[in-house]
Amino acid sequence: MEEQIKAMRQKIEAAAAAITDSKEMYQLRKQYLDNKAGQISALMKNMRDLAPEDRPAFGKIVNELKTWALDFFTAQDARLKAAELAKKNAAEQIDVTMPAKPHKAGALHPNTLIANELIDIFAGMGFTIFEGPEIENDYYNFTALNTPKDHPARDMQDTFYVSPELLLRTQTSAGQIRVMEKNQPPIKILSPGKVFRSDDDATHSPMFSQMEGLVVDKGITLCDLQGMLDVFAQNVFGENVKTRLRPSYFPFTEPSVEVDVSCFECGGKGCRLCKDTGWIEVLGAGMVNRKVLENCGVDPDVYTGFAFGMGIERIAMLKYGIPNIKMLFESDVRVLSQFNE
Ligand code: DAH
Repeated sequence: MEEQIKAMRQKIEAAAAAITDSKEMYQLRKQYLDNKAGQISALMKNMRDLAPEDRPAFGKIVNELKTWALDFFTAQDARLKAAELAKKNAAEQIDVTMPAKPHKAGALHPNTLIANELIDIFAGMGFTIFEGPEIENDYYNFTALNTPKDHPARDMQDTFYVSPELLLRTQTSAGQIRVMEKNQPPIKILSPGKVFRSDDDATHSPMFSQMEGLVVDKGITLCDLQGMLDVFAQNVFGENVKTRLRPSYFPFTEPSVEVDVSCFECGGKGCRLCKDTGWIEVLGAGMVNRKVLENCGVDPDVYTGFAFGMGIERIAMLKYGIPNIKMLFESDVRVLSQFNE
């Protein structure tokens, strides 16, 4: 009998020696120690076949075997789990001395840079910001701006209509009406935003951005407009830049002007940028038409005002020497990241 016990112990040791995985070791443990099906439990059942006087001695050695096996498997389990943990740690080791992947900071889009710069300049002169809706009523975009339905000036802008009455605004000038309808002068607002026109070439895009300015108060004149535009032009293009007003036409201003700046590239002598004229056109402006003031309930015999509107992309292209407006919308980070000072 003792021989049989000894053999079982050797068998367990031999089987365990060949195992390198804690899950397999658990299976082996079950083979011997499982309460019902384990081989050591089965030995106890053999007790029935022994003579009663031999039973206590047999019970003792089987119990010893069981105690030994319990300790043995606990030790084996600890050994294998320690080895497995060491292996896992080695595989997950990181080299903290390795150089990190470079993390490139984002850059502001040229449009955003120009818009921020303009907002800074005009806020410094007391302007506040008004943002109107991109989907606009025909009334705000055209009619109230002295451009009724059959007015030929509607052809100046090719409009995307959403319905007979709703359209994608073609100009931030629509904001002028919204502001004057709700507020009596003094008014001094700057209105940035996206505008839309069916227009597409190297300098025009169906969606672009404008910045509108409106000042209404007692005694406002064209001189006030030019004074403010001088501050704007010198801040954006350089302190020696001059402005020039040329007669033009917009239905919502009378008189209307086109504003040029002296060429900041050649100083006015004539170059490719200014097409040898010494001047570059930057925006449209004028004195707010009496009819527009009347449409908004502002008395044109008491108040006068000026308005101006400029294209942000146009200013960005001029300032940064960007040759095609599409470069501003293609999202090529190599292009867009160059302009942050
Ligand atoms: N809304 C005009 C355009 O999109 C620009 C403009 C011209 C705005 C004269 C004005 C202005 O406020 O007075 O072409």
